[in-house]
Amino acid sequence: MQSTFALLLLVASTLAAPAASDCTGTISSMGDVDAAVKCTTVNINSFTVPAGQGLTLNLLDATTVNLNGDLKFGNVSWAGPLFTVSGKSITFNGNGHTLDGGGPFYWDGLGGNGGVVKPAPMIKIKISGTYKNVRVLNSPARVYSVSNPAPLTMTGLTIDNSFGDLPNSKSGGIAAGHNTDGFDASTHDLTISNSVIMNQDDCLAINKGTNIAFTGNTCSGGHGISVGSIDSDATVNNITISNNKIINNDQALRIKTKSAATGSTVSGITYSGNTGTGIKKFGVIIDQSYPDTLGTPGTGVKLSVSPCIFTSCSGHRLILPTVAHLSHDTKL
Ligand SMILES: *[C@@H]1O[C@H](CO)[C@@H](O)[C@H](O)[C@H]1NC(C)=O
Ligand SMILES: *[C@@H]1O[C@H](CO)[C@@H](O)[C@H](O)[C@H]1NC(C)=O
Repeated sequence: MQSTFALLLLVASTLAAPAASDCTGTISSMGDVDAAVKCTTVNINSFTVPAGQGLTLNLLDATTVNLNGDLKFGNVSWAGPLFTVSGKSITFNGNGHTLDGGGPFYWDGLGGNGGVVKPAPMIKIKISGTYKNVRVLNSPARVYSVSNPAPLTMTGLTIDNSFGDLPNSKSGGIAAGHNTDGFDASTHDLTISNSVIMNQDDCLAINKGTNIAFTGNTCSGGHGISVGSIDSDATVNNITISNNKIINNDQALRIKTKSAATGSTVSGITYSGNTGTGIKKFGVIIDQSYPDTLGTPGTGVKLSVSPCIFTSCSGHRLILPTVAHLSHDTKL
């Protein structure tokens, strides 16, 4: 009996022989990366990524990444990105640790519009699965660019660029941080939830894409939650923006389509339970003349939102004379 059991165990253990990737890789410097990403558990310790280099993790399917310390990135003017993660069915545990982009080194009030070249986006997320509990401090410019290969949930994230609200010696009296978009998500099947974004540009920008939910987030200091800017031949569909708090932003909820855009469709945008407070310009704005807000609207983008937040929405083509807005303190 005992030997049969032992034999069974032997057979079972032979069948379940661990794959070579069934190991734990540890990254404490750039030199560790190539070996570590051959394992399906990757632990990252605190270190500084050398200036002018990006940390790139091309992960095996179903890898778990544990951030076990804070990362800094050396300061030098270059295009970035500083951090890229790729792979399918990934679990990325930030454990509350910080990716420090060194923003104040770059900030000059100009963002991507001039001045010193800034790493942008700071972080490229190209995974499916889950990405959670990561804190980003002081991005040079745009923070996350998301292009997930399959469904992805990003949750419990913090982006703290609040220091960029202040002017510095290079910004000529205006906020030093600029174009610090939280999430640029031209993608499909993405949920971003329960995150806090303090920045100086769009909290979320969806230029195109489908099946995106943005829910339970707090956006502070920026330009609000944006669908757009929509250029030509873009499709946006099935977007849910719910239960977010938008505080001290230029606008709370915005759809912006370029006046010159043609052949685009924006539909199935659902807003519910969002609250805007301390909004500086428009509570809700559908801007069809972007970038010339309040200019002559284009007619090349078919627009429909749900629930209909204006009285004159009939059919699927909503052409507003210039711009529409609700009160500065808005609850939809
Ligand atoms: C880059 O510069 C910023 C601003 O001075 C600083 O906070 C950050 O620690 C610097 N990063 C490194 C790696 O030295
Ligand atoms: C709409 O998107 C959500 C994710 O936000 C997804 O769960 C749902 O299946 C999508 N609906 C359709 C009809 O594709």
